[in-house]
Amino acid sequence: MSSLPNQQQRVLSGMRPTGALHLGHYHGVLKNWLKLQHEYECFFFVADWHALTTHYEEPQNLEQSVWEMVIDWLAVGVNPGSATLFIQSRVQEHAELHLLLSMITPLGWLERVPSYKDQQEKLKERDLATYGFLGYPLLQSADILAYRAGLVPVGEDQVAHVELTREVARRFNFLYGREPGFEAKVDTAIKKMGKKNAKLYNELRRKYQEQGDDEALLTGHALVENQKNITLGDKERLYGSLEGGGRIILPEPDALLTPASKMPGLDGQKMSKSYDNTISLREDPDQVADKLRKMPTDPARVRRTDPGDPEKCPVWKLHQVYCNDDVRDWVQEGCRTAGIGCLECKAPLIEAVQGELAPIQERARQFEEDIDLVRKIINDGTNRAREVARQTLTEVRQVMGLEYR
Ligand code: TRP
Ligand code: SF4
Repeated sequence: MSSLPNQQQRVLSGMRPTGALHLGHYHGVLKNWLKLQHEYECFFFVADWHALTTHYEEPQNLEQSVWEMVIDWLAVGVNPGSATLFIQSRVQEHAELHLLLSMITPLGWLERVPSYKDQQEKLKERDLATYGFLGYPLLQSADILAYRAGLVPVGEDQVAHVELTREVARRFNFLYGREPGFEAKVDTAIKKMGKKNAKLYNELRRKYQEQGDDEALLTGHALVENQKNITLGDKERLYGSLEGGGRIILPEPDALLTPASKMPGLDGQKMSKSYDNTISLREDPDQVADKLRKMPTDPARVRRTDPGDPEKCPVWKLHQVYCNDDVRDWVQEGCRTAGIGCLECKAPLIEAVQGELAPIQERARQFEEDIDLVRKIINDGTNRAREVARQTLTEVRQVMGLEYR
């Protein structure tokens, strides 16, 4: 559980700018964002520095990839009125926090992150024995902690990074949340809540600390959160004291596991650029039809008269994403009896994919034609994000002894 349940309302996620997004991104990640943006305060950013941790040799593609990705976000319906959209490298606070966190992060924690060795193995053609690559999960921690985000939507492969973030935050709070006169300051802060609330706070704290009552902890957090007349510093003390520690300056986030994308690619494997089996969101409709027509089917269907088995056909996996029960029944029956041919079978699918992409592409065209609007959206988002991150960094500098006057 997050150490700041009240802040779980804030969601933060980043995406590397890999260029044009495809249906795998849409069904796997973006549809989830579309839902989250209505439920939480969301920050979504272009992780351009992250891209450089692996692709530092190809800076020439970066700019185009960034704008392509932002346009795709907007085209699928990520709404800059609901979510704050920004570019990582424009909020220098990420870099500063990364540096400051690096002071307290044991090397072993980074070396043990599973993606470190995995990715080095997988991307053998790149030299990833770099400082930046080792530190990239910590950069991600800085991304998250700069906004004191409570929830981080990630795929399975990124859960370890959120876990690292929690450990780093805990260590940070342990090192810098203890201050001289903490107990006395807590007592003063409690009094500021007024008699009734003070009594409630003390009861909840006792219930949590003596009986491990998680409900009491949640209620206590809500109580502190709703106080109007106390400073952020005092709130941090009250959260910390509730849990039996010092001030909580950087709350521990929770991973919000995005269900693994069921989106199959053109070859039946997971859709991914590295398998070259994608349909991009801005793929031309004829090209979409062509790619789907060329998709391999059950090899048993050599001739039109040979019956097949949808379970052995990658096309069937797409029907399961796109088609209703009637069409699916029709596929099952027609395939097994050789009642339909494969091209016939693919027709409703082609129509469904084209139909899904048409409105996305229409919106993408509008944004492409008004790139100034796209820049404005990003500028506004970046300013909003920077303001939040700036506040965190002011406190971080303070507790690390860096606020000289
Ligand atoms: N590392 C993530 C990826 O490769 C992207 C990312 C960067 C991110 N910073 C983040 C995701 C912060 C969530 C939160 O996909
Ligand atoms: Fe696949 Fe459809 Fe052909 Fe059967 S009929 S093999 S499900 S494409």
